[in-house]
Amino acid sequence: MTMAALLTRAAPRSLATTIRPITRPYTSSFLRRSLATATDEQPHLRLGSIAPNFQAKTTQGDIDFHKWIGDKWAILFSHPADFTPVCTTELGAFAKMKGEFDKRGVKLIGLSANDLTSHSKWIQDINETQNSDLQFPIIADADRKIAFTYDMVDAQDVTNKDDKGIAFTIRSVFVIDPNKKIRLTMMYPASTGRNTAEVLRVVDSLRTGDTKGVTTPIDWIPGDDVIVPPSVTTEAARKKFGDVREVKPYLRYTNIGK
Ligand code: BEZ
Repeated sequence: MTMAALLTRAAPRSLATTIRPITRPYTSSFLRRSLATATDEQPHLRLGSIAPNFQAKTTQGDIDFHKWIGDKWAILFSHPADFTPVCTTELGAFAKMKGEFDKRGVKLIGLSANDLTSHSKWIQDINETQNSDLQFPIIADADRKIAFTYDMVDAQDVTNKDDKGIAFTIRSVFVIDPNKKIRLTMMYPASTGRNTAEVLRVVDSLRTGDTKGVTTPIDWIPGDDVIVPPSVTTEAARKKFGDVREVKPYLRYTNIGK
């Protein structure tokens, strides 16, 4: 189902009427440039590659992305548009979890293709409706330059725009480490809100892997058994961690606490 159809069926009328599906190819020079960027010139955003740097206007002032990250981890996450229902719940939830991310040395930064005035007004709505106090910056990517660089678009966005002629961004999450490397990505469609606990969980897994040299199994949360990676012998693992449970020569567990 297209996003426009989704909105028409599921969204309140006031929201649905802001979406104008178009039936002919959208051929503005901006879009042609953007499409060219998306297909031909776009950087490969592979895990382990450097997150592209950019300058941006945010609700907390102008930033140079890499300088803003500094020596911390960062989570860059996009949402489709301001004043939309699922996004409002997501941003409220991330705002409430900020303390947990702070404790882990992780900075949060949101992004959508709306301008700063819209973001500022919407933050008031988020705080009012979600009982939150949103304290991280949101990037105003009104021309979707950053969104295209990070491929925060989906196939239907090129023919689906709001009443200001702006196409949506998707729900992307980029987890970036202090070396500015992309370590993990997630992509969700507009219809499906993310899970803040999962975003926190993957940060815990990445940081645990980096500091302890272990990997984490399905559904792992801190405190659960971790996995001794194949590159480490059982003997070396026992020296390092103490007890190692060998289920198969290639499947070995240990516990490193929380
Ligand atoms: C939302 O609920 O957040 C949403 C709905 C439709 C389009 C974009 C976002």
